[in-house]
Amino acid sequence: MTAEVKRGVVERMFARKSIAQVQRETATSELKRTLGKWNLLLLGVGCIIGAGIFVRTGSAAALHAGPAVLLSFVVAGVVCAFAGLCYAELSSTLPVSGSAYTYGYTTLGEFVAWTMGALLLLEYGLAASVVAVGWGGYVVSLLADFGLRIPPQFTGPAGYTLMRDGVPVLVDGRTVTTIFNLPAFAICLALAGLLIRGVSESAKVNNIIVAIKVTVLIAFIAVGGAIVLSNFGELVARNWTPFIPANQGPGKFGVDGIMRAASIVFFAYIGFEAVSTAGQEAKDPKKDMPFGIIGSLVVCTVIYMLVAAIMTLLVPYQSLNVPDPVAVVVDSFGPTWGWLAKLIKVGAIIGLTSVVLVLMYGQTRIFYTMARDGLLPRVFATVHPKFKTPYINTMLVGVITAIAAGFFDINVLGDMTSVGTLAAFAIVCLSVIYLRRAAPDLPRGFSVPLYPIVPILGILSCLYLITTVPWSVLVFFLWYMAGGVVLYFAYGMRHSNLQRGEAQDDAPDLGEQAGPVGKQP
Ligand code: ALA
Repeated sequence: MTAEVKRGVVERMFARKSIAQVQRETATSELKRTLGKWNLLLLGVGCIIGAGIFVRTGSAAALHAGPAVLLSFVVAGVVCAFAGLCYAELSSTLPVSGSAYTYGYTTLGEFVAWTMGALLLLEYGLAASVVAVGWGGYVVSLLADFGLRIPPQFTGPAGYTLMRDGVPVLVDGRTVTTIFNLPAFAICLALAGLLIRGVSESAKVNNIIVAIKVTVLIAFIAVGGAIVLSNFGELVARNWTPFIPANQGPGKFGVDGIMRAASIVFFAYIGFEAVSTAGQEAKDPKKDMPFGIIGSLVVCTVIYMLVAAIMTLLVPYQSLNVPDPVAVVVDSFGPTWGWLAKLIKVGAIIGLTSVVLVLMYGQTRIFYTMARDGLLPRVFATVHPKFKTPYINTMLVGVITAIAAGFFDINVLGDMTSVGTLAAFAIVCLSVIYLRRAAPDLPRGFSVPLYPIVPILGILSCLYLITTVPWSVLVFFLWYMAGGVVLYFAYGMRHSNLQRGEAQDDAPDLGEQAGPVGKQP
């Protein structure tokens, strides 16, 4: 390869879309500035709360941090705050839709945008699978309350021994090896069907669902909190002593375990970027964006810490490694509260459904945008003649998420999601630094405070949390990204509209079609 050709490849990898071009592509409708600071805060809370608190907190406490999982929430919340502020600056500087993928395309270039696309498949697509598995856990548990039993072989990932409280479950005296997770598989396909039909009317329904899931957690905090306060001293002595269990090896309790658990409960915060992408609709982005982002992170951190405190005070943390930890804790409230356990399960099921829907929706729109840019085959942007949704793309997302949810372990899926999202956040922080240098005079609706400390801390903290994830997951992640790089050179670079000097293709813009939260992610 001659030096000239090499330079050509590098130049092509870093080809950037101009801001004007992205604006032309997305500015089919002028968005109205209607969202106040409280709207933004609620938008964030709605997108954030899901399987992280309802499911993942259990194993984070049981296997890694014990009661000190409370501190893990603080660590993960702070990391998200750094990244959140960077998201807010980019969204107020680059008024474009498409979020992190488009930020990458306009700042660090096409290769980074492609990489971002691969990471967002983990942040949205795989996260949808994680939440679907959590949904399945609560469904199996609720059905059992009514005497209905899905055959246990069909309630877990392929080839795992079914466990409860760290002990194998025996059916007819034998252990059960799970074949696949039927409920999780089914909900992904069902919601893909719903997305194909179009979900534009559902913004109101979504608000109701958000209210339900928050109410369920507040009810848990109120009743659980009252029980805790009536017996605080004894519960602390019994279940919170020691608060930080002694370290038992890498990632197992002690400070190391707190950090490992932080990378797990980090999942519970994914979704707050939705606030930053509403930058163009904020009444006063300078003040309202940081309020919305930091506010929703603070509200969720407080809710999460209270829920986690009640969970670890009322039952020994070792018994929380179950698919429905919140329900297990409510069971400990005593027989009079049996109805609350059922209500919480119903609330969790409804709440988790909407999170899966929003995440899958986000994934389809990322694929759609990439296809319009020529980075993915055009078929991903083919729109259904009647429903006006990218239906082939949505079917594919449905099948991918269903297979991941049906056959893989929630812990592995959750770790992959966290790693991918942390890497995406680090790139967003880097983009802020790049843009400040490359285009210092661009008008910025909102600027990261304490620049460059905040973006640098954002990058370092994200990279640090990635290192706490098990090596096997990191190796899998590296293979996944290597596959992505190969695909970029084999397909993306050759077909990109930008490289071929073409304008975006003529697929219709879905920008005006509201998503499940009433806007595009
Ligand atoms: N933060 C979202 C959840 O916990 C993804 O389900």
